[in-house]
Amino acid sequence: MTEIPAHLLKRSRAAKGKGDDDSAPSESTAVTPAAEADAAPAASGPPAIAAAAAAIPADKPAPEAPPEPHYITAAKKRKKIPAWALPLVAAVPLWAISFAGTMQQPVVEDPLFIAAEDTYLVSGGCSGCHGAGGGGGIGYALSDGSLIETFPDPVDQMVHIARGSAAIQGEEYGAERSDGRRQSGSTGAQMPAFETTLDMNHLELVVFHERAVLSGEDTSSPEYQEWMNHIREEYEAGVSEPIDLEFLLRCADPELTPGATGEGSDDEDHPCPGPRPAEEEVAAG
Ligand code: HEC
Repeated sequence: MTEIPAHLLKRSRAAKGKGDDDSAPSESTAVTPAAEADAAPAASGPPAIAAAAAAIPADKPAPEAPPEPHYITAAKKRKKIPAWALPLVAAVPLWAISFAGTMQQPVVEDPLFIAAEDTYLVSGGCSGCHGAGGGGGIGYALSDGSLIETFPDPVDQMVHIARGSAAIQGEEYGAERSDGRRQSGSTGAQMPAFETTLDMNHLELVVFHERAVLSGEDTSSPEYQEWMNHIREEYEAGVSEPIDLEFLLRCADPELTPGATGEGSDDEDHPCPGPRPAEEEVAAG
């Protein structure tokens, strides 16, 4: 016969003693004298342990249901959905589906943004080398501010796009970037010249798209908003002037753009393109 450890027997007896009085004597008769003898030294052990062992069953709460709070009773009595509301509830999934349909990308209706993206993706074909989202490919990535690092001013960017890279092979262009200056042709690929394939309005459109949309440039200043209005108005009026590379080189920064003079515009009605502070336009005239 396997012997039951004495301390367990003692706990069992203690539990029976607390609980059901009737079963206690019948259980205790089953205990062999040997077990009783073994139990004695255990009981003489440290009193704290014995007390703790005896206390365990007593700590358990009696399985007696607490009185139900009144609000639970009320909730049980309440009808879940009133009969009149059932058709409405049934219609919720339909409503959710139709609502979700309106939650997609905000619809861009501004002709400026539409025409700018169209020039980048379709008529200019820039995305073929720079990626639809400006992530780069054959040409550099233009996204996440990278383009703004090369060309802090859009005029220098306009010259680069109009002239392409073959005209400045091996020359450095753009500002000092965290990875150094750009050197034309260093990637082994060529950026085509767009001087004759784009008009001035579409050059400004594509530059706006690359800067504001792809590279995340801040457009909130009044000068920037004015430039955007200018591009939008010319686009809507169908203005199509050829790109004047000589003029752009006068507007561009000689430090960033090979061949630029930085003189600025001498025609008040024909200021250098891009977001320009009002005084500068007046001063240039
Ligand atoms: C055939 C491929 C190709 C196409 C198409 C192309 N590019 Fe490029 N682009 C390049 C390459 C290559 C470079 C690097 C130029 C260099 O090394 O001189 C570049 C450089 C640039 C840069 C300078 C970026 C920087 O941080 O240095 C800009 C801006 C740019 N391209 C804009 C455009 C725009 C706008 C268009 C469309 C109108 C366009 N590209 C179409 C290949 C292309």
